[in-house]
Amino acid sequence: MSSITVREALQGLAQALSPHSETAPLDAQRALAHLLGRSPAWVLAHPEACLSSPQVAQLQDWLRRLQTGEPLPYVLGEWEFYGRPFYVTPAVLIPRPETETLVDAALRALSTRPSPRVVDVGTGSGCIALTLALERPGLTVWATDVSWDALQVARRNRARYGLQNRVHLVQASLLTPLVGPWDVVVANLPYIPSPDLTHLPVARWEPRRALDGGPDGTRWIRGLLVQLADRLQRPGGQAFLEIAPSQDSILREQVQRLLPGAAVEVLPDLAAMPRVLWIRL
Ligand SMILES: C[S@@+](CC[C@H](N)C(=O)[O-])C[C@H]1O[C@@H](n2cnc3c(N)ncnc32)[C@H](O)[C@@H]1O
Repeated sequence: MSSITVREALQGLAQALSPHSETAPLDAQRALAHLLGRSPAWVLAHPEACLSSPQVAQLQDWLRRLQTGEPLPYVLGEWEFYGRPFYVTPAVLIPRPETETLVDAALRALSTRPSPRVVDVGTGSGCIALTLALERPGLTVWATDVSWDALQVARRNRARYGLQNRVHLVQASLLTPLVGPWDVVVANLPYIPSPDLTHLPVARWEPRRALDGGPDGTRWIRGLLVQLADRLQRPGGQAFLEIAPSQDSILREQVQRLLPGAAVEVLPDLAAMPRVLWIRL
C-alpha cells in the first residue's frame, strides 16, 4: 500500500463527508486528528506529513464506511459534548449541540442548591448526567434508560471520567422505580413523531428507541410529566426537558394541566429555536 500525505487524507475525508455534512472540511480535520492522535491545528500545519501503513489501512476502512452515509461519530467511536469526548456506538444517540442548552440551564439551577437530588431520564451515552457531575464536583446524579445497550455505553463513559461513585445508572422506563422527591429532573427523551421517522435520514443509523416519540412525538415527555406530579420536590423542584420546537405550545398546556400552579417557560437553543421546557414548582 503506497503512503499518502495528510493533505491527501484530508481531501479524501472531506470528499466522503461532503454529501452528508455541511461542515465536511472541519469534520475531516477532526477525523484525521483522531486517527493520528494529534490536534486539528497540527493536522493543518503538517500537510506533507505521511501516514503510516496502519493509519492508511484505518483511513481506508473509515472512507468506505463514510461513503455509505454512516455518521462520523459512529465511525470514530466518540463525539464531543460540552467540550469533552464521549464514547458513542449505534446503541446511543449522537450527542447534539442543542442539548448543551439544557445542560447550561440545569447548571444555573444547580448553582443555588447545596446538595440537590438530580436525575437524568433517558441518559443514552450519559452525556448529560456525566457533564453535570463533571461541571459540579460533589454532585451525585441518577440516570435511567430503557436500553441496556445504551447503559453499557454510559458505563464506559462513566469509567472514562472516573465517576462511578457519583453517577448511578439504572435500567428503567422513565422514573418508574425511582420515587424521589427530585430537586432537578433533566431529560432528552425521544420526541420525533413516529410517522416522520420513515423519511428522516437519522433513523437509518441512530437507534429507533432514541428517536421515536410516538404518534405526535410527545408520548414519553407526557409520560414523564405525569410522573413529575408526585416526584418533583414541592416547592422548588425544577425540570428541564428537551423538546422539538413544534411541541412548544402543546407541552406548555400539558404542564398546566398535569402540574397546576407550576411556572413554565421554553428556553431557546443557540439557533434561537424553542428547545427546553423549563418547569418550576
Ligand atoms: C434522544 S436520546 C437522548 C440520549 C442522551 N440523553 C442525549 O441527550 O444524547 C433518548 C434516550 O432515551 C431512552 N429512552 C427511550 N424511551 C425511554 C423510556 N421510556 N424511559 C427511559 N429512557 C428511554 C433511549 O433509549 C435513548 O437512550
